[in-house]
Amino acid sequence: MTKVLWTQQMIISTNINGKLVEKSVEPRKLLSDFIREDCGLTGTHVGCEHGVCGACTVLVDGTAVRSCLMFAVQADGAEIKTVEGLKQEKNGPPLQDAFSECHGLQCGFCTPGILMSSLEFLETNPNPCTKDITEMLSGHLCRCTGYKGMIEAIHKVSNKNL
Ligand code: FES
Ligand code: FES
Repeated sequence: MTKVLWTQQMIISTNINGKLVEKSVEPRKLLSDFIREDCGLTGTHVGCEHGVCGACTVLVDGTAVRSCLMFAVQADGAEIKTVEGLKQEKNGPPLQDAFSECHGLQCGFCTPGILMSSLEFLETNPNPCTKDITEMLSGHLCRCTGYKGMIEAIHKVSNKNL
């Protein structure tokens, strides 16, 4: 339950990567800033802050969202997963390994967001075709690698699930 304080801060309670986090935040604080600044989880990257690049993608109640487009108070009561929690998920470590093996990253700036979208994607598409993967990746900008290695990596994980 959200409580309003006289300082115009609000107390929110979320579960982040399996840990209960209760903190006081300004109502205008973005979820991406809350995750990075208040929770110290800097694996979530911030690029455009306009919902374009996908670098800030996290899972909120299992859905991939751009955390720069949400206020932290909107996540009150939600379950959030960031890239730091990836290892707790069935497809998390295989995705990390496959991205490394298939050269799906270079500088790594876009990678946390892409991994979180890929995690959600594989939950609903355990056996995707290349077109499905390409469509999912089209929501993420990578200025380094091109997308071939990422597509191979996601195929590799989905093949393990067959
Ligand atoms: S930082 Fe959120 S979409 Fe670019
Ligand atoms: S690996 Fe550098 S932006 Fe994607």
